[in-house]
Amino acid sequence: MSTVKVDLFDRAFLADPYPTYRWLREHSPVHHLGAGYWLVSRHHDVVRVLRTPTVFSSELGYGAMMRADASALPGSDPDRRRALTDSGTGVLMRSFAGLRVLIAADPPDHMRLRRLVSRPFAPRAIAALEPRLREICDQLVDGMLDARVDGVADLWEHVSYPLTTMVIAELLGIPPERKADFKRWSDAVVNGLSFGGATDITSGAAGAMEMFQYFSDVVEARRAEPRDDLISLLVHEPADGDDPLTVPELIAFCVLLLLAGNETTTNLLGNFFESMHAHPDQLQRLRDDPALLPGAVEEALRYDSPVQGLWRGLRAPADIGGVEVPEGGRVMVLFAAANRDATVFGDDAETFRVDRNPLDHVAFGTGMHVCLGASLARLEARVAIGTPCSTARQASSEPANRSGR
Ligand code: HEM
Repeated sequence: MSTVKVDLFDRAFLADPYPTYRWLREHSPVHHLGAGYWLVSRHHDVVRVLRTPTVFSSELGYGAMMRADASALPGSDPDRRRALTDSGTGVLMRSFAGLRVLIAADPPDHMRLRRLVSRPFAPRAIAALEPRLREICDQLVDGMLDARVDGVADLWEHVSYPLTTMVIAELLGIPPERKADFKRWSDAVVNGLSFGGATDITSGAAGAMEMFQYFSDVVEARRAEPRDDLISLLVHEPADGDDPLTVPELIAFCVLLLLAGNETTTNLLGNFFESMHAHPDQLQRLRDDPALLPGAVEEALRYDSPVQGLWRGLRAPADIGGVEVPEGGRVMVLFAAANRDATVFGDDAETFRVDRNPLDHVAFGTGMHVCLGASLARLEARVAIGTPCSTARQASSEPANRSGR
């Protein structure tokens, strides 16, 4: 057995982590990175960690990492590690120190927060957004087609990247005159989030703070005068015996939506088209049978998961897959590695197949932190991918290929 040195900040690993994930699953499924950090890569172990929140804490994992000490992570690139801590995201998380933020909360706080914010994200509430989503996607696809040079336009720049910010701005009721600011803040905050992302620390932190101020003003305004938007709904949500969200909790939630809902869905669209490009036979299958689209979106989520992994911190020592991890240890659950585990997805788990319809993937996590925005992300992907170009819209209601590349 050859030994692979795993370095989360290595550019070659970031460009294609899947050979390393395979090695991990096969040879070191609970892998000690050093300095109290472990990687968990098998589907069975990932699910167990995610479904045991009393031991594997989000507050001591993602929460603590972002608040203070991402720079302690082992890895080859100290600038990138420091950037993760000093980014807009890091600054925001530290501003929320002492505050309960849904994704970094443990039971019982998590239950209260999740109950208070769940209703607008329920599948039926999200389905009602479809007509407006179609308008937004039509507008973006037309813009992409207008921007073509020699028949080529950039799908990421014109559709997948702006779409997610526009949808969240719409949900939050950001007025048209503030949408450019909102996009700038969102870019500044989101750019600081990923391991591989470019980070301008100064503008990231400044953007984060401007956004913080803006949301404080809006929350106060909606408390005084509710409108037909998500913030008004959350401000006035019946508490069912729970304490309602405080103003800082509401602001933290708005920021979380941006962080959790932006880059993830953009990546899903990018990964979907890249997988199609790399597998022309699968693209042809989908063209021949458009009813495969929902399953093809699930396969893209499984095959190249937009969130590769997230952290948990241990409240007590635990045995994971035969490896003893001490109290205070930190484990990264690798959703993307688990989603290619042959024991769950079969011998062709490393193959992209639009007709697989993988039910057990963990691209949205599992357990109590399972993605709140999963229905929204799925709808965005299906509508964006299925949007015909304007000439096809005028000519017929049949979907046409309009990837733009
Ligand atoms: C393809 C797109 C997306 C992917 C792959 C994704 C993935 C995930 C994953 C893996 C988690 C679990 C985190 C954990 O266990 O610690 C999560 C949680 C979350 N996601 Fe998503 N997400 C996506 C889109 C969205 C969208 C569009 C929104 C909202 C606008 C959203 C909001 C959230 C929130 C609020 C949480 C925290 C839930 C909790 O802690 O209870 N996500 N997401």
